Amino acid sequence: MKKLGLYIHIPFCKKKCVYCDFLSFECDDFLVQNKYVDAILNEVELKCREYAGYSVDTIFIGGGTPSILQEGQIERIIKKVRESFRMCENAEITIESNPGTLTREKLTEYRRVGINRLSVGVQSFDDELLKLIGRIHTVEDVRDSLREARNAGFDNINIDLMFSIPGHSKEKWHATLEKAVEMDPQHISFYSLQLEEGTPLFEAFKQGKFNPASDEEDREMYHYGINFLKEAGYQHYEISNAAKPQGECKHNMKYWSMQDYLGIGIGAHSFMRGIRFSNTSDIREYIAESGGCGYKTYTVNSIRDDAGEFMFTGLRKVEGIDLSEFEQRLGTSFFDFYAPEQDEINEYINNGFLELRGDKMRLTEKGIDISNDIMAVFV
Ligand SMILES: C[S@@+](CC[C@H](N)C(=O)[O-])C[C@H]1O[C@@H](n2cnc3c(N)ncnc32)[C@H](O)[C@@H]1O
Ligand code: SF4
Repeated sequence: MKKLGLYIHIPFCKKKCVYCDFLSFECDDFLVQNKYVDAILNEVELKCREYAGYSVDTIFIGGGTPSILQEGQIERIIKKVRESFRMCENAEITIESNPGTLTREKLTEYRRVGINRLSVGVQSFDDELLKLIGRIHTVEDVRDSLREARNAGFDNINIDLMFSIPGHSKEKWHATLEKAVEMDPQHISFYSLQLEEGTPLFEAFKQGKFNPASDEEDREMYHYGINFLKEAGYQHYEISNAAKPQGECKHNMKYWSMQDYLGIGIGAHSFMRGIRFSNTSDIREYIAESGGCGYKTYTVNSIRDDAGEFMFTGLRKVEGIDLSEFEQRLGTSFFDFYAPEQDEINEYINNGFLELRGDKMRLTEKGIDISNDIMAVFV
């Protein structure tokens, strides 16, 4: 039976962080949240009919802040998914959380309904920096949440960190990495802070209120992070992700390996049977139509799309891509397909940015620094 990863989007946050342009709104209102959950349940019911031939081996409840939902709401969602889809035994089921919204009761509920992976938005182990970027929690809240999560039985935990935060120094980044590793999570995501247009942080930048990290400083912190985590026993397996052995996020691996995934909720993207589609981002419309609004975008991939996507998602993985898999999927050899780009590709290889070993092609660590330029060759 074919496998499917399910993504469920919860677009609510207690307070918007100053840097964030994810599809999420400040909303703590139980009734609004419940209407949204009702629409999610209906969409699950509609979609499961279309994909009856699949079994679900990963679920990722992401946001926004899924842990903002009140007790019982996550249980309703998971129950509905289990009733509607065929579930694989030992499916990976992740929920994203913000330490400012987690409680012992919620964590116990997550475990009870079978959630076995917790992703915690930590960002930094420095209270001043947390305040500066508008987080609703302190370092102590992070420690409390992680302790409660372990007590509730979570042994597969991810911590999200960010570097190049305004006011970040190499020393502060080092201290955050050290404290993150002391918490002993299975998985650590480390993102370079992006200045997103329309966010308060971007406005502050435009008004000259702070100097963002230079490219050199940003890259220095990035490589420092990778080396630190490697020495602490984590394997760097994707541009922004490291995990203990066997601790990779199976759901996210689907995105980087062009496997099927189905998105539920506003703004959610899907890739099923070679077709990409996405849901409306309008929560009013989504609730009014009870999750049945049809698609906002719908693209049947051309061969060129497939090849480009295979390359630029696959090269995010540190192990890179398999040329024989390319041929199997595309029906033509990598070298034939990219013959017109061969000189450019060779130049990246000769200059140590791309590595070709046997059947494998991957970005080198210095290649990651110019990954956008390299990936542009393939799309
Ligand atoms: C949906 S949020 C995670 C869960 C929860 N909402 C939280 O923030 O605690 C996913 C992650 O994206 C990262 N992120 C969000 N905006 C970012 C930005 N502008 N630049 C880099 N990373 C960002 C943060 O590390 C965040 O934890
Ligand atoms: S980083 Fe997380 S908590 Fe902050 S606004 Fe974005 S989704 Fe919400």
